[in-house]
Amino acid sequence: MARIVGGLATSHIPSIGVAIAKGLQQEPYWRPFFDGFPPARAWLERQKPDLAVVIYNDHGLNFFLDKLPTFAVGAAAEYRHADEGWGLPISRPFAGDTDFSWHVIENLVADEFDVTTCQEMLVDHAFTIPMSLFWPGGGAWPVRTLPIAVNTVQHPLPSPERCFKLGQALGRAIRSYDSDEKVVVIGTGGLSHQLDGPRAGFINKEFDLMCLGALPHEPELLTDYSTLDLVELAGAQGVELINWLAMRGALGADVYEIHRNYHIPISNTATGLMVLESA
Ligand code: DHB
Ligand code: FE
Repeated sequence: MARIVGGLATSHIPSIGVAIAKGLQQEPYWRPFFDGFPPARAWLERQKPDLAVVIYNDHGLNFFLDKLPTFAVGAAAEYRHADEGWGLPISRPFAGDTDFSWHVIENLVADEFDVTTCQEMLVDHAFTIPMSLFWPGGGAWPVRTLPIAVNTVQHPLPSPERCFKLGQALGRAIRSYDSDEKVVVIGTGGLSHQLDGPRAGFINKEFDLMCLGALPHEPELLTDYSTLDLVELAGAQGVELINWLAMRGALGADVYEIHRNYHIPISNTATGLMVLESA
């Protein structure tokens, strides 16, 4: 059966893609952020996953406010990026795996998660930036991918608890896939940030550090928050933390924390990075 080697989580700010394209990783502004990544890449180099499930939120490239699924799962042979208007370069395409996708979809639906299935799907910066951070350097991507888009944009959003349970169902689906492949689960977004309204620029370091502390071994502390609690404590876009919770749910009860990094700010966002290995 397929095996989940662990989980990764990172922020996904568009300007990171611009910094990569311009080679600014060692500039004073960017260094504390990019210097977090070598341990994550070294862990990936040791684990060598075949497949990456990327739990992220679409920001208007593939879905818009007129039609916005709560949970959408890719079922395409290939996923492409496109111009989002942020000035970041267009990523090279990502291979999908339709057998794996349909296995996960069938199991999620059997587990009462009635997801939207996407046989065509554009992936935005929330998918492409983490992929570039974890596997830099160009060339073919070393993993096939399965995108799962969670609505963090238009309320009502799925609750933190619901997203954690989605992750648990995803974990069961992956572990029942008849293959000897290794899977890494990635959650993207957060940590605290708010891009609009009177609280634009809002960051909550204390709450972020509590979340980073709880995620590995006490994730249920985070699933007790309501969506509106998260808006208040992490900012309107800080709710992207629910993607991290879905990732954590997929890993099962016991994990080893391999690495974390926290740096404020990149653009308007408090950035977080976490590497968890399945026990
Ligand atoms: C920023 C952060 C995000 O999560 C995002 O999707 C877009 C922009 C920012 O801080 O600039
Ligand atoms: Fe975002």
